[in-house]
Amino acid sequence: MSVWAKHQVLEKNSILLLLGILFVVAIGGLVEIAPLFYLKSTIEKVEGMRPYSPLELAGRNIYIREGCYNCHSQQVRPLRDEVERYGHYSLAAESMYDHPFQWGSKRTGPDLARLGGKYSDEWHKEHLINPRAIVPASIMPGYPFLFRRELDANDIAAHMKTLRLLGVPYTDEQIANAEADLKAQTMPDDPGAAAVQARYPKAVVREFDRNPDRLTEGDALIAYLQMLGTLVDFKLYDNKANFR
Ligand code: HEC
Repeated sequence: MSVWAKHQVLEKNSILLLLGILFVVAIGGLVEIAPLFYLKSTIEKVEGMRPYSPLELAGRNIYIREGCYNCHSQQVRPLRDEVERYGHYSLAAESMYDHPFQWGSKRTGPDLARLGGKYSDEWHKEHLINPRAIVPASIMPGYPFLFRRELDANDIAAHMKTLRLLGVPYTDEQIANAEADLKAQTMPDDPGAAAVQARYPKAVVREFDRNPDRLTEGDALIAYLQMLGTLVDFKLYDNKANFR
């Protein structure tokens, strides 16, 4: 009996056929996926990437808690219309410290990967309180409570430690100063502000929600929105053929 005749055994037994299919598909999966875990070129290193500052991280946690990703992606694809609308397409390294990443697949609203610096803090505050006050036809829900709720900062060091377990290179110094840094990032006149910027280059220090008496969830969310896509200086890469 030739090998091909033996194939009948598989064709006549659906369970065996299923196992055979799983086996063959698994080989394809291994060949495609396994190398990604040890090839250095999977994530090209880029200059400027750093872990989130404590305040940005707190804002990111609120972004996830409120489900903003249900309507917003954070990934500019290398397609002409997207690059012209949003800016340079996203690099893998730009989400290397994201656990979980926020690429998303639903675009009810615009992509937010390059949002940082596009609008003022006041714009974000007004828009988050009542999107229709700024964009009359908007279907985005309002989040006015974020500006009433005190930011719970007690667990931020624990969040950073957990991320370190997952490979985010937070230093002991960054974790020890987490709570102080979180508060100082909203106090431009505080001596701690310079320390935040030394530990987290390019961190924006501002009174984000324009309410100096309170540290609100709105402060953290706006700090996060204002840094999205701002860490990598793409002018550095303009001359390199492989980045354009
Ligand atoms: C139900 C879908 C929906 C949800 C949920 C949602 N958005 Fe939006 N968002 C939109 C739509 C639609 C727009 C475009 C109209 C507008 O600007 O309001 C938008 C616009 C925006 C913009 C302006 C983007 C730009 O480039 O002009 C920002 C910033 C934003 N949303 C942030 C958020 C944040 C932060 C959250 C979570 C707290 C959130 N959105 C939740 C639908 C949503």
